[in-house]
Amino acid sequence: MITVKDLNDIRGKNVYVRVDFNVPQKNGVIRDTNRIVAALPTIRELVKKGGRLILMSHLGKIKWKEPDPEKIEAMKKANDMAPVAKALQEPLPEAKVHFCPVTRGEALKEAVSSLKDGEVLLVQNTRYEKGEEKNDPALSAEWAALADCYVMDAFGSAHRAHASTVGVPSILKEQGKPVALGYLMIKEVEHLGKCVEPTAEDRPYVAVLGGFKVSDKIKVIDSLLRKCDKILIGGAMAYTFKKALGEEVGCSPVEDDQLDYARRCYEEANGRLLLPVDSIITDKFEDDGSGRTILTKEGGIPEGFEGVDIGPKTAELYKSELMKARLVFWNGPMGVFEQKDFQAGTIAICEAVRALKGKAFTVCGGGDSASAAKEFGYKDDFSHVSTGGGASLEMIEKDGHLPGVDVLR
Ligand code: 3PG
Repeated sequence: MITVKDLNDIRGKNVYVRVDFNVPQKNGVIRDTNRIVAALPTIRELVKKGGRLILMSHLGKIKWKEPDPEKIEAMKKANDMAPVAKALQEPLPEAKVHFCPVTRGEALKEAVSSLKDGEVLLVQNTRYEKGEEKNDPALSAEWAALADCYVMDAFGSAHRAHASTVGVPSILKEQGKPVALGYLMIKEVEHLGKCVEPTAEDRPYVAVLGGFKVSDKIKVIDSLLRKCDKILIGGAMAYTFKKALGEEVGCSPVEDDQLDYARRCYEEANGRLLLPVDSIITDKFEDDGSGRTILTKEGGIPEGFEGVDIGPKTAELYKSELMKARLVFWNGPMGVFEQKDFQAGTIAICEAVRALKGKAFTVCGGGDSASAAKEFGYKDDFSHVSTGGGASLEMIEKDGHLPGVDVLR
């Protein structure tokens, strides 16, 4: 596979760059520019080489099944890419950033042909097109026709086989045009690759999995069971495992249709899958925090209470397992970390990672865990914080394969 370093002859050429600028935003105010910052090394290099950059990304979700066209328009408005172009211009003073408010047709072609060497055009949200998520051939062909070469730097979207991530590069590749990986992708593939294929030096390899649903993580648990020495389970999904093993879980969220899987998985793990031994529980969760009872409970959870974080004994147990590790993969918070009362378990994982600095390779698999690491000030303690939650899980599930990468091979 070639990389952005190998693309040398691009002065005056149209370089289509798939970035993941799916940033958290509301009403045009961007809350976290991390994904924009992470794509800058690739953009800067291509600008320096005189390429004419066409940046493509999705933003948010447009539910095309919605029958009311007004609601579709409202979703589009809520996910307009224009503010992202402004946010990109700020850290990129060396290049003029233009914005194209449409995704197809003459106006897009004109915007592309007006580009000068070393300039950047950010195109409107790719999901404004119904055909994007279906990898529509006509849409892919129209976008591919704009480009002389392709750079994939959208790790967060590499698990999506969409027109902008798979359709376009497969056409360009067929036409013999260069298709390459960007710097962000190179880093992600290399660092997550360690978690996919651990070596003897990476032992013990410990994974920490949290989050809401077992069903979302079945494939990744199965895959990690083949690769890891220990898997530490937290978050709401722990209660499905606990119920499966016959423990009382009160009114904690449980996926009853996953109980058989959870039981089988626990048995097959043969002591390598650890569950919380105590939990922080509360009788009222969905309010602003007033008037609720919060307790620490070992073992089962009484009726009327639900588990909202791992307890202090579990935190200590998990920390001691992590301290033995040489490789750590973490995905999913241990509790409802958005609320102060239920943050301690997630912070304990971050503390262990901090203590492992220089002793182990630690990977935070994006999504909520990356937000938590950042919010609590531990981001720099990880060897790698991924920009893609879904993509990093899928990379582990599929033993290193992602459609947006495989298409470039
Ligand atoms: C993400 O935020 O995980 C990526 O940008 C992918 O977004 P999607 O789940 O809407 O495809």
